[in-house]
Amino acid sequence: MRDIWQSRTSFVLASIGSAIGLGNIWRFPYICYANGGGAFLIPYLVALFTAGIPLMILEFSLGHYFEAPAPMALGKVRKPFEILGWFALLVGFGICTYYAVVMGWCFDYLGLAVKKAWGEHTQEFFFNEFLKISQGPLMLGSIRGWIVLGLVLSWIWIIACIWKGPTTVGKVVYFTVTIPWIILIIFVIRGITLPGAIEGLKFYLTPNFSKLLDYKVWLNAYSQVFFSLTIGFGVQITYASFLPKKADIVNNAFLVSLADAATAFIGGFAVFSTLGYYALKSGLPVDKVVASGPQLAFVTYPTIINLLPIGSVIFGILFFIMLLTLGIDSAFSLVEAGAAGIKEKFNLNRTKVNIGFGVIALVIGLIYTTNGGLYWLDIVDYFMNNFGLMIVALLQCVLVGYFYSLKELRHYANNQSDFSIGIWWDFCIKILTPVVVLFLVLSNIIDRIKTAYGNYPRIAEFLGGWLLVIIFIITAIILYKQKHRSA
Ligand code: PHE
Repeated sequence: MRDIWQSRTSFVLASIGSAIGLGNIWRFPYICYANGGGAFLIPYLVALFTAGIPLMILEFSLGHYFEAPAPMALGKVRKPFEILGWFALLVGFGICTYYAVVMGWCFDYLGLAVKKAWGEHTQEFFFNEFLKISQGPLMLGSIRGWIVLGLVLSWIWIIACIWKGPTTVGKVVYFTVTIPWIILIIFVIRGITLPGAIEGLKFYLTPNFSKLLDYKVWLNAYSQVFFSLTIGFGVQITYASFLPKKADIVNNAFLVSLADAATAFIGGFAVFSTLGYYALKSGLPVDKVVASGPQLAFVTYPTIINLLPIGSVIFGILFFIMLLTLGIDSAFSLVEAGAAGIKEKFNLNRTKVNIGFGVIALVIGLIYTTNGGLYWLDIVDYFMNNFGLMIVALLQCVLVGYFYSLKELRHYANNQSDFSIGIWWDFCIKILTPVVVLFLVLSNIIDRIKTAYGNYPRIAEFLGGWLLVIIFIITAIILYKQKHRSA
C-alpha cells in the first residue's frame, strides 16, 4: 500500500518543518546582517521567487506526478537520472550525520541549562571543556562521552518520529512546527523589550544598498534560499509523493516557502535584539558581538542567558528546546527521504531500513564527537551545501528542464492547484536558476583552488570534501545499477 498523508495540513507542516531549521535562527540573521542588512531582503526575495519557489513547485510536481521517492521520480523522466536522485539522498545522508551531532550538543546544553553549568566563561567552556577541541582536523583525539550520549538521544528521537512513515510524521509535525514557533515569539518579545534592543535591530536591518552591487551578495542569497527550503535533497519530492491524487501543488509551495522566509526574518528579531542587549551590557559595539552558527547558539546565547535579569534558567531551557524542535523535523525529513528511496528500490521493511539508516549514520557521526570533530563538521557542512546541494539543484533544473516537457509539468501542477503559474516558471527553471547556480559552483571552485576551505590542511579538505563527493557519486551509480525489487 502506498504511504499517504492523513491531511493536507500534515503535508504542509511536514514540509515547513523540513524547511525551518537551525538555519533560520543561526544562519539567516547573520547572512542578512553581513550582506547589506535590510537591503539584503531584495536579493533574498528575488532568489526566493525566481529560484526557491520555482524549484519547490518543481519538486512537489515531480513527487506528486510520479508518486515516487526522489530517485525513482527522476528515473521516470529518464532512466539514468535516477543516479541524480540517489546522489541527492546521499548528500542528505551526509548532512544528517552531523546535523544529529549538533542536536546532540543541544541535548547536552539543555541539561547544562538547568544549572547554567556553562559558567561565566562560555567560550572557554564550549571549546575547551565541552568539545575539548584539538589543534586541527588531523588531530582527532578521542570520543567525547557526553556528546555521544546526546547523539544517541538524537537518533532515537529521529527514528521514533518517522517510525511509521508519513502516518507518524504527520502527527509529530503538529508539535515540532508549533512549539519552536511559540518559543520564537517568546524570544522576540523578550528580546525587543530588553534595553539596547533597538541598537541590535539597527545592525540587523539598516539597509546598505551599495552592497547590492557585489555579486557575492546575490550568490549568498541564492544559496541561503536553497539551503533554507531544504531543496535539492530529494526531501520535498518524497514528501509530495505521499500526497493523495487530488492535492494542491502551487499554493502549497508558496505557503511553505513563505512560511520559511517569514520565520527566518522573525528569527532575526529574536537574535539581534538580544545581541543589542548583550552589546549594551558588555560595553562592546554590536559588530563585536555578532555571531552565527555554533558560536551563536553555544557561546553567545548562553552568555546572554547569564545576563538576563529574570528567569534566566527558564529562557536557557526554552532556547535549547527551541533549537531541538527546530532541528528535529529537518533531520528526520532527510532520513525519511533516504529511507523511502531504499525501501522502494529494494522492497525492504520500513523498520529495518530506518534502524539501519540510523545506526550507520550514528556510527559515521562518531567522527564529529571527537576532539577534532568540529573541524570535520565544518568541512563536510561546507561541501555538502556548496557542492552537493548545488550540483543537485543545477542538474535537476537542466535535466528536467531540457529532457522533459516543462510545459506539461506546469499544466499538471496548474490543474491540481488553487492558482496557476505562468511561463515565467519555465524561464526560471530552464535558464535563470541554472545560470545562477553554475556561477555559484564556479565561484566556489575558484575559491577552493586559491585556498583550502577554512585554511585547513589540503588533505583534510580533500578527505572531508572532494573525496566525500566522489564517494557519493560512485555510490549513487552503484545504487542505480541494482535491480529494482518491486513488491
Ligand atoms: N532547511 C534547514 C534549515 O534551514 C536545514 C537543512 C538543510 C536541513 C539541509 C536539511 C538539509 O536549517
